[in-house]
Amino acid sequence: MIALGIEGTAHTLGIGITTEDKVLANIFDTLTTEKGGIHPKEAAEHHAKLLKPLLRRALQEAGVKIEDVNVIVFSQGPGLGPALRVVATAARALALRYSKPIVGVNHCIAHVEVSKLYGDVRDPVGLYVSGGNTQVIALKGGRYRVFGETLDIGIGNAIDTFARELGIGFPGGPKIEKLAQKGEKYIELPYAVKGMDLSFSGILTEVVRKYKSGKYRIEDLAYSFQETAFAALVEVTERALAHTGKDEVVLVGGVAANNRLREMLKAMAEDRGAKFYVPPYDLCRDNGAMIAYTGLKMFKAGIRFKIEETTVKQKFR
Ligand code: KG4
Repeated sequence: MIALGIEGTAHTLGIGITTEDKVLANIFDTLTTEKGGIHPKEAAEHHAKLLKPLLRRALQEAGVKIEDVNVIVFSQGPGLGPALRVVATAARALALRYSKPIVGVNHCIAHVEVSKLYGDVRDPVGLYVSGGNTQVIALKGGRYRVFGETLDIGIGNAIDTFARELGIGFPGGPKIEKLAQKGEKYIELPYAVKGMDLSFSGILTEVVRKYKSGKYRIEDLAYSFQETAFAALVEVTERALAHTGKDEVVLVGGVAANNRLREMLKAMAEDRGAKFYVPPYDLCRDNGAMIAYTGLKMFKAGIRFKIEETTVKQKFR
């Protein structure tokens, strides 16, 4: 079977085409600005403008006709309302025009599910870290549950905001990572794990305050920021592992590109005798293949959506 997935929860529009065990096409375009940040209306306009050309390219790359597709899948949320509406409308239009079934999927679940496509994992605890989201999620009792999440901003957003304050551009993740590699001294920053949840606004405020004081090397600040924030992420993931008794950990989302975070999470997983896996980067970042793959699984499991039920879900609970 073949699924066509449309991702568009934030500033990336992605079209993916997959079977149950293979990615046939995974095309994206991200709306980026010098300053970073996302304007919901601009993201929606970006998606509306690029949907047709990206769809055409994806079908071409996959070597399939839209008539061959068995199910149309779209990212139903969480995300930016205007961007989600464009994607849902496009999915509905395709489903109606070509008489195809339609399935809406949760963006965060798709990030974790797609790790099963090429990874040797069956039932992992997922640490999902991106610009807008930071969650530890896993299956329990047949449903995905949130075991911990940020109480304020996403880790990627915190990193990008810090980079913006340093004036080193957007996205900040790779640049902060490079600076951090040259860090020599750990500077204490607020560490905030609250129960199973996390908070990054305090550490961000403090690292920016310290930077503005002019008393610290930026490499040391970048290093300390990563060490502190990532330790909190690892702690919450470890708690979820202990709580669920699972023995697999996957790291997904754009921030999964960070080598230091990979190293820290891998060490924790190995200490606990758990398997550790990070999908290829194009399946980690926001992408359409994860939407297609997850929707196809749902469809094969008998999940059906009525076209009038395919409204967007801005909140995930
Ligand atoms: O999942 P993603 O593509 O979509 C959004 O949520 O926007 O993630 C993008 C995020 C950005 O915050 C970016 O700075 C971060 O991933 N990122 C990184 C690295 N590469 C990208 N963060 C830390 N280290 C990296 N090497």
